[in-house]
Amino acid sequence: MPTPLVAILATGGTIAGAATRPGDDASYVAAQFGVAQLIAAVPALAGRPLEAEQVAQLDSKDMTHAVWQQLAHRCAHHLARPEVAGVVVTHGTDTLEETAWFLHRTLAPGKPLVLTAAMRPATSIQADGPQNLLDALALAQHAGARGVLACVQGRAHGPADVRKRHGSRLDAFASGEAGPVALIEQGQVRQLRPWPVGTALGVPEARAADWPAVIVLPSHAGLATGMAQALVQAAIAQGARGLVIEGTGNGTVHSAWDGAIAAAQAAGVTVWRATRCQDGGVVGEGGLPHAQGLSAAQARVELMLDKALGGAAA
Ligand code: SIN
Repeated sequence: MPTPLVAILATGGTIAGAATRPGDDASYVAAQFGVAQLIAAVPALAGRPLEAEQVAQLDSKDMTHAVWQQLAHRCAHHLARPEVAGVVVTHGTDTLEETAWFLHRTLAPGKPLVLTAAMRPATSIQADGPQNLLDALALAQHAGARGVLACVQGRAHGPADVRKRHGSRLDAFASGEAGPVALIEQGQVRQLRPWPVGTALGVPEARAADWPAVIVLPSHAGLATGMAQALVQAAIAQGARGLVIEGTGNGTVHSAWDGAIAAAQAAGVTVWRATRCQDGGVVGEGGLPHAQGLSAAQARVELMLDKALGGAAA
């Protein structure tokens, strides 16, 4: 049986990063190498049926809605081709969990859409990108695999659970209590949990610059009421249509936010809460609406899509 075709869409990140001093894994610039160079750096990929496309070239801390819109359209294009088994997206690690959630909610693909990344730049003497790319391809070619998956260090994480939990270690990603969906070992995929499925909401059609503004505001000790009010007023003045308060514990919110939140709601701004706890999410009802186990950054995506798509995400 011929090896199935995979489309690799590159967006930048450390996986495409370069240091000026060879072997410097700390001081480097992300998004320097093109997708053809990333593929060429993996000898095992020679002769494999691949198509490659450079969708963007950025450090993912600077990810934009415009790139997401374009990326989602290019993913949808390739996934709809019968001859394509799956799509791999190379991405920065810093906002990978947000992009994963965005693609899951907008596309909910019936084929594997695998994001991969690296913690060391491509110039590192022990770069992790090549193995991660190889593993991501194995996952994208695996019969039966489906949905948006984040493949790093031999683990495939689901789009709701994936978190970047460490700032520098190779093994930076985890799925918390849920655990990975699958393991990739020597090119073999071992499925542990059901593949992530969902209902595709579709990609918002409006110009990305016009997508509803939703921002995250953190709740923490020592917050002054005046500061909270000023932040919310500034957000509303800048056109915010939604706020996600990154709360403490089980989504608890400092009382200094109370007046500002009430004023925002009175102005028609939707306010959700999430938790800064890495595990557990928010459980129970009462108080502000919450997005259960999503991180605050993912809840921002969810609320933005809900507003952009007229309530379809709720
Ligand atoms: C980025 O997120 O683009 C830079 C950091 C990384 O990929 O590890």
